[in-house]
Amino acid sequence: MTRIIDGKAIARKIREELRGEVQRLGEKGLVPGLAVVLVGDDPASAVYVRNKGKACAEAGIRSFQHTLSAKTTQKELLSLISRLNNDPSVHGILVQMPLPDHLDGHAVVEAISPEKDVDGFHPFNVGRLAIGRPTFEPCTPAGVMRLLDTTGASLAGKDAVVVGRSNIVGKPMALMLLQKNATVTVCHSKTRNLPEKVASADIVVASIGKPGFVKGDWIKPGAIVIDVGINRTEKGLTGDVEFETASKKASWITPVPGGVGPMTIAMLLSNTVEAARRKGTA
Ligand code: GUN
Repeated sequence: MTRIIDGKAIARKIREELRGEVQRLGEKGLVPGLAVVLVGDDPASAVYVRNKGKACAEAGIRSFQHTLSAKTTQKELLSLISRLNNDPSVHGILVQMPLPDHLDGHAVVEAISPEKDVDGFHPFNVGRLAIGRPTFEPCTPAGVMRLLDTTGASLAGKDAVVVGRSNIVGKPMALMLLQKNATVTVCHSKTRNLPEKVASADIVVASIGKPGFVKGDWIKPGAIVIDVGINRTEKGLTGDVEFETASKKASWITPVPGGVGPMTIAMLLSNTVEAARRKGTA
């Protein structure tokens, strides 16, 4: 029997728990703060940033929104990051990606103080993740790990196939699954025999950005299927997995929307609270 992993409900519960934690920190005089920087006028990014601000408010986290023009220079952006690095009321800094083409996103990420890097994108934090040291974990794969947790399945010795190798999802996802002792295969656009590789997996994480790319008949009966894709199509939001057919084979599967999506913001809030907690005890 296939069970649906209800990311929306799981994320709601995490956000409620965080609200309690923020309240406890507040009683000690510590209010977590998140700075969100948006450059340019990409409408999807504007929606994400607005949602992050709303989620912060609901959790009792102070949010500082910085909306900069598409013509902002690298120097101006780095100067803002420097100010935020030095602002004690800001515990987390997030620069919404992608940035306009004339800006160097890598240099911007590297300018963020690693202890405020709640996205987990700074090479220092990526390196710590790679060697299994405590760090800020990138929010989307961290959310996937929480969803896998709720299934109660042990990952040790399981075959996990990650489809997609982005720095934001695929690569950190592979590291996190490896840390839990799964045997991990990372597939990408040059991978040969992708259907066979997916068919060997006890756990499939799809993060390619192509609607319905992973076919239901590739899925091994009883596999856990996590769909990270959020694709805007004529039929509305759809994932990277062909849900109708895959859900007949999987033991557990995430829907789109309402699966991984809501977890990303919950993990961002969690990292921000953690950043504040670390500062509070420093
Ligand atoms: N753009 C798409 N996903 C993300 C994310 O997790 N963090 C940031 N900063 N930008 C993104």
